[in-house]
Amino acid sequence: MDDYSHSVEAKEIIVDLGTRSYPVLVGSNCVNDVTKYLPESVKRVAIVTQGQIGIQLSTDKEQKVFVIEEGEDAKSINTIMELCRSWVDWGLTRSDIVIGLGGGMVTDVASFAASIYHRGVNVINIPTTLLGMVDAAIGGKTGVNLPEGKNLIGTFWQPNAVICDLNALQTLPKREWKCGYGEIAKYHFLGAKDMRGKDLIDTVLECIKVKSKIVSQDELEGGRRAILNYGHTLAHALEIENDFALAHGEAVAIGIRYAAEVAFLMGRIGEDRVLYHQEILDHYELSTKLQKSMDPNKVISLFLRDKKSKDGITFVLDGETGVEPILVQDRNILKKAMEVVQ
Ligand SMILES: NC(=O)c1ccc[n+]([C@@H]2O[C@H](COP(=O)([O-])OP(=O)(O)OC[C@H]3O[C@@H](n4cnc5c(N)ncnc54)[C@H](O)[C@@H]3O)[C@@H](O)[C@H]2O)c1
Repeated sequence: MDDYSHSVEAKEIIVDLGTRSYPVLVGSNCVNDVTKYLPESVKRVAIVTQGQIGIQLSTDKEQKVFVIEEGEDAKSINTIMELCRSWVDWGLTRSDIVIGLGGGMVTDVASFAASIYHRGVNVINIPTTLLGMVDAAIGGKTGVNLPEGKNLIGTFWQPNAVICDLNALQTLPKREWKCGYGEIAKYHFLGAKDMRGKDLIDTVLECIKVKSKIVSQDELEGGRRAILNYGHTLAHALEIENDFALAHGEAVAIGIRYAAEVAFLMGRIGEDRVLYHQEILDHYELSTKLQKSMDPNKVISLFLRDKKSKDGITFVLDGETGVEPILVQDRNILKKAMEVVQ
C-alpha cells in the first residue's frame, strides 16, 4: 500500500440526506478527530471493536471497549443482544454514543445494535478495512445474518460521521485488501472514474463520492440504491454455500464476472463490455473462478432467498444505460452463466 503513516490532509465528503446529512472524513492519523463529531450531550462512548484491530481511541469522554468475536458466524442476533445487555450494565444512555471501530462486520453490528438500543442511539463508524471505508461504513445499512441467509435482519440507521484513517490499513492482512478491491471493482460499473493507477486516497474518495451520491438519491433502497448490490446476488449465495470460507469481497468479484455473463447471455451487453469487466477484475488481481464447482440448481435455490427476490430472481445487471435491477425469468441463462465461473 501507499505509506500513510505520515499525515496527509484529511478531506471531507458530505453524505447529503437533509437533516440526517453527515461527513465522511478521509485522511491519515485522523482517528482521534472523532472528538470533533461527538454531540455535546455525550458523556459515555461505547467502542465496539475486535481483538486484532488494536487501534487505541481517545475520545476525552468516559469510554469503554466492547470486544466482539470475529467472522460472519458472530454477526448474529446473539451478539446484538450481548452488546445491548452489556451497555445496560455499563449505563449507556440515549444521549451517549456508540463507535463501531473495525471492518464491515463490526460497523454493521455496532450500528444495528445502536439503532435499536433505547430505540436508537447515535453511532460513529470508524472503518479499519478497505472494504469498510469504500462501502460498508457509509450509507446507514445495518444488519446481522440469520442461518437462512446474510444480512436478513437489520435497519437503516445513518451514522453521525464516518472516519476513514488510511493509516489503520497498515496492519490489514493481504486477503482483506483483496476484499476491498472486490468492492472497488464494483464502483467501476456504477459511474466512478477509472481508478486504475490512482493513489489509494483518491481511490477511496472516488468510491465514497459514488456511494454517497447513490445513497442521497435513495436512502431506503426503494429503487436505485439496489445497484450497490452489483455482483452481490451470486456473492451472497456463494458465501452461504461455502459456509463463509469465501470472504465477502472475493465472492463479490466472482459475482461481478457472473453478472456480466448473465447480461451478455440476455443480450444486454456485448463481448467487449464483458471483456472490460474481466480487465477491471484482473487489474485488482481478483479471481473470477470458484475453487470448487457448485450445482447450478443449488445456486438458484439460494438466489431465491435474496432480499431483492420479490417475484422471481432479481439481478443487478449491466446494460446500455448502466446497471439496473432486472427480473430474470429464464433460469437456463442463470445456469449457463455459472459455467464461466466454474
Ligand atoms: N452495511 C453495508 O452497506 C455493507 C456493505 C458491504 C459489506 N457489508 C458487510 O461487511 C462485512 C465485511 O466487511 P469486511 O470485509 O471489512 O470484513 P470484517 O469486518 O469481517 O473484517 C475482516 C477481518 O479483518 C480484521 N481487521 C479489520 N480491520 C483490521 C486492521 N486494520 N488490521 C488487521 N485486521 C483487521 C477483522 O478483525 C476481521 O478478522 C460483511 O459482513 C458484509 O455483509 C456491509
